[in-house]
Amino acid sequence: MIIEPIVNGVVARSAHPIGCQQAVLNQIETVEHSSQITNGPKKVLVLGASSGFGLASRISLAFGGAQADTIGVSFERGPSDKGVGTAGWYNNIYFRQEAEKRGLIAKNFVGDAFSSEMRQQVIDYIKSEFGGKVDLVVYSLATGVRPDPESGHLWRSAIKTVGEPVSGPTINIEHDKLESMEVGTASAEEMEATIKVMGGEDWQSWMEILSDADVLAHGCKTVAYSYVGPEVTYPIYHHGTLGRAKQHLHHTADELNQKLATLGGEAYVSVCKALVTKASVFIPAFSPYILSLFKVMKQKGTHEGCIEQMQRLFSQRLYGTGASVPVDEARLIRVDDWELEPETQAEVSQLMQQMTADNFQEVGDYSGYKLDFMQLNGFGFDNVDYNARIDMDNLALLRP
Ligand code: NAI
Repeated sequence: MIIEPIVNGVVARSAHPIGCQQAVLNQIETVEHSSQITNGPKKVLVLGASSGFGLASRISLAFGGAQADTIGVSFERGPSDKGVGTAGWYNNIYFRQEAEKRGLIAKNFVGDAFSSEMRQQVIDYIKSEFGGKVDLVVYSLATGVRPDPESGHLWRSAIKTVGEPVSGPTINIEHDKLESMEVGTASAEEMEATIKVMGGEDWQSWMEILSDADVLAHGCKTVAYSYVGPEVTYPIYHHGTLGRAKQHLHHTADELNQKLATLGGEAYVSVCKALVTKASVFIPAFSPYILSLFKVMKQKGTHEGCIEQMQRLFSQRLYGTGASVPVDEARLIRVDDWELEPETQAEVSQLMQQMTADNFQEVGDYSGYKLDFMQLNGFGFDNVDYNARIDMDNLALLRP
């Protein structure tokens, strides 16, 4: 069959397997030609490994100097009579194939990372086939729902404000339009649910279970990802439900850091740059900021994608030759430093003030934003023949 892109609003309903392979290969090439990770980890567990920052972390750690064996956990769907499957499904497959070519272990677990069964499967695998211990745990899950491990009740996150509602323009990728929308204020229940889903509780639970099972190596590190952003985005992000959840994540890092000290280990949150991922396109009223940011950072030559961010994180912050991991006064690793440069932000806010529904494609980097979105789903690569027929029967035989 010929696979066409199908986009509803900001959700991709199809993915191109060969394009996903190309995306993985491109990221591998990027890290192979970047400043390499030294003194890196060798046995890594990545929770949320199939796309965005988690996939980029895994590629960076395997191919960017550390040559790490990796276990990746993700929630993805393979091909079936309902469709071709998700991009992350193919990312897992092609990552594993490339890692195995280099003699690295790349084990994929596809299922619910919140479940106790998944924790047990991962622990059993570490003990029986992965050398018994991991020396880095990357926590990069992004989702809208999390089941309560005790009752099974589903917490649903709500991307809302705290205090006042905010109205602002947001991108509709399907129709190439900037539409205005209002982001309402969160109820106490929505706030609590968002913290449950996107805060640090599940990360903490994973680390405790791994520690109790004695599969954390001496000196083991763990890192989770956060966003802070400039003041102009505070009402919708930093001061909204997502920001509250991230504050919880930051506190969790401090608690985990204390607990890991007995093992000589460390826990960090890395604050990353705003980028187009499957998760971030859902943040309402945020796209005008990203369009302006991309435009300015590309002009200045400081733009990075997920893969460049993760390679910089692992080669220059979390590992390397420094005696300690460089952090800010809140003990956060900042790879959003280039995004937040004052000159960059001054230019970004000028562009945001000029942006309207009629001119957003010229004022902001809409073509770059949309290309990133399409490429997340395997579309838009010059060297992939999108008219070639894809043999789905053969693809269905590929296992993650
Ligand atoms: P993403 O949507 O690209 O990746 C999410 C990953 O989580 C995927 O591998 C998915 O399969 C996995 N996942 C979701 N639910 C799961 C479940 N129940 N069980 C197993 N796996 C599951 O998201 P992205 O953007 O890479 O987000 C990762 C982290 O980075 C999040 O904490 C996010 O807040 C943070 N971050 C994102 C930024 C952005 O601009 N995209 C900026 C700064 C931080």
